[in-house]
Amino acid sequence: MVLKDNYDVKDLKLAETGRQRIEWAAREMPVLKLIRERFEKEKPFEGVRIAGCLHITTETGNLGLTLQAGGADLIFCASNPLSTQDDVAAALVEYGIPTNSIKGEDDKTYYKHISTALDHNPHLTVDDGADLVTKMHTRRSDIIGDVIGGTEETTTGVIRLRSMENGGALKYPIIAVNDAMTKHFFDNRYGTGQSTLDGIIRATNVLLAGKKLVVAGYGWCGRGVASRARGMGANIIVTEIDPLKALEAVMDGFLVMPMEEAARVGDIFVTVTGDINVLDRRHFNLMKDGAILSNSGHFNVEIDIPSLAEDAVSKRTVREFVDEYKMSDGRRIYVLGEGRLINLAAAEGHPASVMDMSFANQALCLEYMVKNKGKIKTRVYPVPEDIDKEIARLKLRAMDVNIDVLTPEQVKYLASWEQGT
Ligand SMILES: NC(=O)c1ccc[n+]([C@@H]2O[C@H](COP(=O)([O-])OP(=O)(O)OC[C@H]3O[C@@H](n4cnc5c(N)ncnc54)[C@H](O)[C@@H]3O)[C@@H](O)[C@H]2O)c1
Repeated sequence: MVLKDNYDVKDLKLAETGRQRIEWAAREMPVLKLIRERFEKEKPFEGVRIAGCLHITTETGNLGLTLQAGGADLIFCASNPLSTQDDVAAALVEYGIPTNSIKGEDDKTYYKHISTALDHNPHLTVDDGADLVTKMHTRRSDIIGDVIGGTEETTTGVIRLRSMENGGALKYPIIAVNDAMTKHFFDNRYGTGQSTLDGIIRATNVLLAGKKLVVAGYGWCGRGVASRARGMGANIIVTEIDPLKALEAVMDGFLVMPMEEAARVGDIFVTVTGDINVLDRRHFNLMKDGAILSNSGHFNVEIDIPSLAEDAVSKRTVREFVDEYKMSDGRRIYVLGEGRLINLAAAEGHPASVMDMSFANQALCLEYMVKNKGKIKTRVYPVPEDIDKEIARLKLRAMDVNIDVLTPEQVKYLASWEQGT
């Protein structure tokens, strides 16, 4: 195959390993496989240019191949400087999908890669965190006219896009894939739950059993991290700002307290809030010697690393993905993966089985955008309910799980109000 020249990866020689790992992930992505087989026949994306700004992982590789099978002219860039799997990026280039991402790239290269994706002049955008969309709106508004619509993968991106919509800045429709039940119920909870611990363990090889693990944020991701860490024997402390979520955490059996209290006792900290400076100077000053800080929220703003660096007397990297900050009183604080999402920085991100549903939503929502071109208003939309339900049905079928069907009597009963005791 003649490679296009609009790619930038670490090393094309890694492609064979990437290809094998993409194939391995495919085993756990049966729903996407069914969609790919249909796309191969129907070619819904013939003549459609797509720019995808996603974590370049084996699962994203499978999404790319699915869209390509549907006829898409696709380009990829990374949605985080530390989340790229370089072998997958190389394999995608060899599959004919120009990919622009190198693990550990600096911010300048990161944004240059986004610019290259925008140079593709896309009809559809697939974003994870809304950096591609915001860059297009602020710097490349000349190409917005050709865009049919886009999709957004994560909570933080959806929040940014909703504020663009509310501020009248959004210029084309976006489907909030994150908000599909077959996405956040599973991906954010079980995917982030498991892979965040995987990232912490791979980075540190620390034993979780018996440790005090503080989870900041008891949303979809936080619930997953807390329940999985409890399963490994950690004592969980939850911090929240929302009384309902805090109450839920209490009734789920976790200790809940403000971060200023948790900071004094925690051994390991995980932020998953989507918020800024959740761990800051106030907390660093209270932490025990040896405290380990990690983040699994989308951006690297949840731990105030600039303040930590300012207050520390020295900093050194003690293992891959582990930076030690020594404080003037001799305490050492360890930050994992530069405060970037630890499941992607130090591990492999979500397991393929949950990304199967997230990316099935992506594929079907992009198809929906093309089919409804010109009919959708400029807004942030939920995933159509029939797409969500269909994905749940297909996933159950793939897992060989059958469920009951309402009898006609039950349908009638559930639709009526007359019958009581
Ligand atoms: N690591 C990954 O692979 C991955 C996967 C999915 C989502 N995410 C990201 O993780 C973050 C959380 O996503 P979610 O779906 O759980 O969102 P969510 O909205 O369900 O939960 C976030 C929770 O954090 C709480 N919170 C906000 N500020 C806080 C603070 N200062 N202290 C304590 N709690 C606070 C909120 O009340 C909320 O309950 C987002 O940035 C999202 O984009 C990461």
